[in-house]
Amino acid sequence: MLRMSKALCAALLCTPFLCVSAQTPKPLSPKALAPKPLPARVQAAKPEPATPAAQLTIHTDRPLHAVSPILYGMMTEEINHAFDGGLYPELINNRSFRWAWRGAEHWNLALNGNAAATLTQDKSTGPSKALPASAELTVTNASIGNEAGLSNTGYWGIAVHPRTTYKGSFYAKANADLGPINASLISDTTGATLASAEIPLHAGDWQQYTFTLTTKIVAPSTANHLALTVTHPGHLWLQLVSLMPPTFNDRPNGFRPDLMQKMAGLHPHFLRLPGGNYLEGDNLADWYNWKETVGPLVDRPGHQAPWSYWSSDGLGLLDFLNWCEDLKIEPVLAVYAGYSLKQVHVTPGKDLEPYVQSALDEVEYVTGDTSTKWGARRAADGHPAPFPLHYIEIGNEDEFDKSKSYDARFAQFAIALRKKYPQYKLIATTPVKVSSAAEPDVIDDHYYKTPSGMMALDSRYDNAPRNGPKIFVGEWATQSGDPTPDFGAALADAAFMTGLERNSDLIVMASYAPLFTNINPGAIQWHPDLIGYDGLKSYASPSYYAQSLFAGHLGDTVPATTITGANSRFFQSSTIDTKAHKLYLKLVNASTNPQPITITIDGLTQSVTASVNTLHAATYNSLTHVPAGSWNYTVPALTIQVIDIPLH
Ligand code: AHR
Repeated sequence: MLRMSKALCAALLCTPFLCVSAQTPKPLSPKALAPKPLPARVQAAKPEPATPAAQLTIHTDRPLHAVSPILYGMMTEEINHAFDGGLYPELINNRSFRWAWRGAEHWNLALNGNAAATLTQDKSTGPSKALPASAELTVTNASIGNEAGLSNTGYWGIAVHPRTTYKGSFYAKANADLGPINASLISDTTGATLASAEIPLHAGDWQQYTFTLTTKIVAPSTANHLALTVTHPGHLWLQLVSLMPPTFNDRPNGFRPDLMQKMAGLHPHFLRLPGGNYLEGDNLADWYNWKETVGPLVDRPGHQAPWSYWSSDGLGLLDFLNWCEDLKIEPVLAVYAGYSLKQVHVTPGKDLEPYVQSALDEVEYVTGDTSTKWGARRAADGHPAPFPLHYIEIGNEDEFDKSKSYDARFAQFAIALRKKYPQYKLIATTPVKVSSAAEPDVIDDHYYKTPSGMMALDSRYDNAPRNGPKIFVGEWATQSGDPTPDFGAALADAAFMTGLERNSDLIVMASYAPLFTNINPGAIQWHPDLIGYDGLKSYASPSYYAQSLFAGHLGDTVPATTITGANSRFFQSSTIDTKAHKLYLKLVNASTNPQPITITIDGLTQSVTASVNTLHAATYNSLTHVPAGSWNYTVPALTIQVIDIPLH
């Protein structure tokens, strides 16, 4: 919804035409905002007595410090079914036939007419060392009209769009002529075949088969399944059955376009990868062993992820890097540091050496040229050019390691990484006591807070020492809203971001977490999450729009400012784009009363027209007249505003 407050517009003497053409982030979705009640904490806050005008003075001619050019970015991990069946849009669930006591989850026998078959696991044969087992379909009766096979239910169904081509593939081995394999997308509700293909099958050893399925005019829906059937008796072994929809930029093994577009709308500069807890795993055996996530899919075994489900590693290390490349951003590479979540750690010293070597190899895989072992491997995997890299993070949330082994683990990694790669900045996940050779360049602070807790953090860094490591706020979120943040959370998020910007000499980067959630029942392990989706659609939350607005209107310099007399839930930051001669004035009024302010912009010598970008329970944008000298203005209650003021 894009609309303007008529009262504000009239008061500010701007024309509706100009108002509508104001610079604006994407309009808020009514679904995302309108029906969401504000959290109790905000609603219940006692209305504060009307305050006299606050005094805000911005000294545009007194620069305090530069803004970190990479301040806003993203953090990711496999949580809430973010990757498999989400951003990594594989439609087949359990494509590698992992067997549970009930059988292969998400797979069923598909028997037409009087066909007869059984489905079992064969642990003795598979197409690769990484996938040594397979599903064995034993067909005892099948013919045309009496097809036998198996079907997959997908991730909460298989999303089907009209006039769309899906790329399919599978590995198969057959002991006899079973006829061609028929691959069909079938509606769960009507039984109608929405698309199908016949794939000639050869009796003999493992072989990969590919096919495409193209839909005609069908209603978009997720209530569909994929069936693979044959028409003759015999034994058929299957492994790695895949069906991929179109991807962003048509990248093979790529990403879901709507989610990529939403990420681009956040104006990010970096991606912290691959986690989070996902880096650590619950147990040592579950650590993010990146070498098992690269190369052909058939050589990726997958691994147990800490958020209770299996990761296919279809989205592996090179895919994370491709994701960065697609969005024109840089990776912040987190390397496993020998600690897993269930309080298990690798003893520093000899035992830790293989993990340190893995991290060195990983950096070489990301950045090495093709004359290096791992740079050559990356080229063989399809990406000869090295990726840009500036920051390496060692571990994740190691303050939770009760053995207190992080100082020694960090030092061992830092010294080895610095020796080979002195050019990269090293991030510690908590402050460490180490020798000067191992001192971290940056500390990663994480904050998950209530709205009032997050607002209190707005000033956390205002007086923090500037003589130690820089700060990366690698995870932060106001926790209000389920599954995605409500507007109360967005207000507190915006309040916190004003603090990030004011202190962006110290804070080099910040990334909200978690980024994604699949909103289907049972998919969510953590809320709130910035962007929600199901198989067909995605939506952005109020916090998303607040972040998009802040990151999309960020200057390069923080000017000196003073503010007095504002209510306790009023927050502000100013940055100047020195090339564009523009002041980005961010005003967040999280109180239930409007906040009048007298704004003085020192250095503004003539009146100008400024764009007012507003996020409110219902959003509207407008223009406003900014006189030279002092300017009386009111920030509405429960409102985030960013005002773009040309400076002449
Ligand atoms: O963002 C969710 C989790 O919160 C991350 O995996 C972990 O680093 C933190 O505890």
